[in-house]
Formats: sequence, C-alpha cells, structure tokens
Amino acid sequence: MKCGQIWVSDRQSDVDIQQLQGLFKLAAFWAQNRSIEDWEIAIANSDPVITIWDDDRLIGFTRANSDCVFRATIWDVVIHPDYRGQGLGRKLIETLLDHPRIRRVERVYLMTTYQQGFYLKLGFEFPNPSTAMLLYNQRRINALSKSDRANVCKNSLKIE
Ligand SMILES: CC(C)(COP(=O)(O)OP(=O)(O)OC[C@H]1O[C@@H](n2cnc3c(N)ncnc32)[C@H](O)[C@@H]1OP(=O)(O)O)[C@@H](O)C(=O)NCCC(=O)NCCS
Repeated sequence: MKCGQIWVSDRQSDVDIQQLQGLFKLAAFWAQNRSIEDWEIAIANSDPVITIWDDDRLIGFTRANSDCVFRATIWDVVIHPDYRGQGLGRKLIETLLDHPRIRRVERVYLMTTYQQGFYLKLGFEFPNPSTAMLLYNQRRINALSKSDRANVCKNSLKIE
C-alpha cells in the first residue's frame, strides 16, 4: 500500500537486511549485535513481516510468529526515531493485527520493557503477571558447533 512517499509492506521479500540491521543498531537496545546471517534466518521463519518505508528508506519494522488460530507472538517493533509520534507505530501494529495469519488468532502476545503505554493505547492488556516464563538458552546455543548454528532452520526452508 502506497500513501504519499510513506508506504507499508507485508512482503517478506521487501525486507532489506542491511537497512534492517542499521535501523536496529540505531533504535533497538535489545538487538544491537544481531548478524546479517541471523537476521536472514529470523525473517525467513517469521510470518507476517511488516515494514514501513519512506520511499526506499526503511523506517519501521515488526514481525510475528503465528499458528493462525490459537496463538501469535509479536517481536521487534521499531519506528525510526525521526518518524515517531506521527501514528506510524500504530499503523505498523494495526497492519500486523489485520494480516490473515493474525486476524483470527485468539491471543496475541508481546513482551516490552518500556513501551507499555503505547501497547495499552492499541488495546493490549496486562495478563496475570505470573504467566510469563523465560529460558535464557545460551548454554544450549554455546554447545552447538559453528556449522550447526549457521544451518539451524535453513534446510527445510531452502535458504541459500
Ligand atoms: C514504541 C514505538 C514503536 C512507538 O512508535 P510511534 O510511531 O512513535 O507511535 P505512534 O505515533 O503510532 O503512537 C500511537 C499512540 O501511542 C501513544 N504512544 C506512543 N508511545 C507511547 C508511550 N511510550 N507511552 C504512552 N503512549 C505512547 C501515542 O501518543 C499515540 O497515541 P494517540 O493515538 O492517542 O495519539 C517507538 O517509540 C519506537 O520504535 N520505540 C523504540 C523501540 C521500542 O521500544 N519498541 C518497542 C519494543 S516492544
């Protein structure tokens, strides 16, 4: 969808990984050290992937994993600092929530450290705080060989 020079895409193939890495280095404290190779794997295994562009400049991004019916989880929501406060974050999330893979999902989850106010505006609520648990998986990752790490999830998706 094009609207002036700002446009929104839900096509995985539109993602420019170099620009994505730059946007996250600039604006996402939780994703400073992600490599291009790991980003490629994450994008290939996420659906939908939503991007916002100012002409050919990537200015917004989010992605989700969904079973299309019961559960979905939203990840990595970012608007470029120069473009915040104009409704683009809302547009990003609403586009994702309207996507066919998310539209009829019973529960849509997300985790946020500082932006609770933003998500409350979009209709998200605080669940029972004791429901979330987290495994920091570094021990298992460290135990993988370098090639196992590089190939994880690539074979079935035929990523070159
Ligand atoms: C969070 C973020 C995506 C919001 O993007 P944005 O384009 O500035 O948001 P919008 O302009 O669409 O705001 C939508 C509404 O939320 C409100 N809002 C935005 N950020 C808010 C906040 N931190 N607290 C309370 N309300 C907020 C806006 O005022 C607006 O309200 P309105 O519809 O009543 O006018 C953006 O600030 C960002 O990229 N932050 C850094 C990365 C980050 O922390 N991402 C979240 C990770 S989970």
